[in-house]
Amino acid sequence: MPSAFSIVREPAQLTAAIADWQRQGHRVALVPTMGALHAGHLALVTEGLKHADKVAASIFVNPKQFGPLEDLDRYPRDEAGDAAKLREAGCELLYAPSVATMYPPGFASYVKVAGLPDRLCGAVRPGHFDGVATVVSKLLAASRADVGVFGEKDWQQLAIIRRMAADLDLGTRIIGAGIVRDQDGLALSSRNMYLNPDERGRALALPQSLIAARDALRGGAALAPTLAAAYLALAQAGFLRVDYIELVDEETLTPLDRPEPGARLMAAAVMGTTRLIDNFAV
Ligand code: PAF
Repeated sequence: MPSAFSIVREPAQLTAAIADWQRQGHRVALVPTMGALHAGHLALVTEGLKHADKVAASIFVNPKQFGPLEDLDRYPRDEAGDAAKLREAGCELLYAPSVATMYPPGFASYVKVAGLPDRLCGAVRPGHFDGVATVVSKLLAASRADVGVFGEKDWQQLAIIRRMAADLDLGTRIIGAGIVRDQDGLALSSRNMYLNPDERGRALALPQSLIAARDALRGGAALAPTLAAAYLALAQAGFLRVDYIELVDEETLTPLDRPEPGARLMAAAVMGTTRLIDNFAV
């Protein structure tokens, strides 16, 4: 039986509702999202409930993290459907502000994390992670949640948010939740709905090539030919562009030349018009 559920649209209402819970002795988790919720997002709510006894979520399609040629206008939006899914998953509060509420006229403050956003996705999406850090710092500051839960599919985003929350003493513990995959292995993403059936089938080469590379590295293969084989597999599957396939340290995101504790294989590639990302621990 789903518990009580309410929707608020102003930051002061979010602050008050969560402070009220905390005054009653509850620990509160915040799950920030851009909506178009799938099982991966709902797993973030489930993860939140492991670390807190109340979960709030936010839905805000953040214009500041989209480039001028990106999919802000066509990004899927379904607040009523999302609210029903959140409630069913055990979330009790939804913060769904308008763009004018988040960024009123005169808004002029940005959060920029140095270093971590420079490479990988940040190299091909300039300004993207400044937009993410800005909106997430606003959400964490307004909520003052005990815990913030973010998906591990956006590993670079997670590393940046961890750094930002620690550097700014936001007081919210950042938790990463494991990637949720379709039965065939493709990581769930709101953007998967842009793929036509043919592209959806071929997109599977992304996790498959990373798994093959991970297994090869674990078996002692050298890094350069292993990554070259993964690039080739993606090209042969019809990916139009491979932005990167790299072995990096999972905290600093610096490139590694061999597997070591904390090593992670990360990739981004474009299928049709859809840019997909994925990563695996090595
Ligand atoms: O991962 C997302 O959905 C977004 O980047 C986030 C963290 C909600 C910030 O807009």
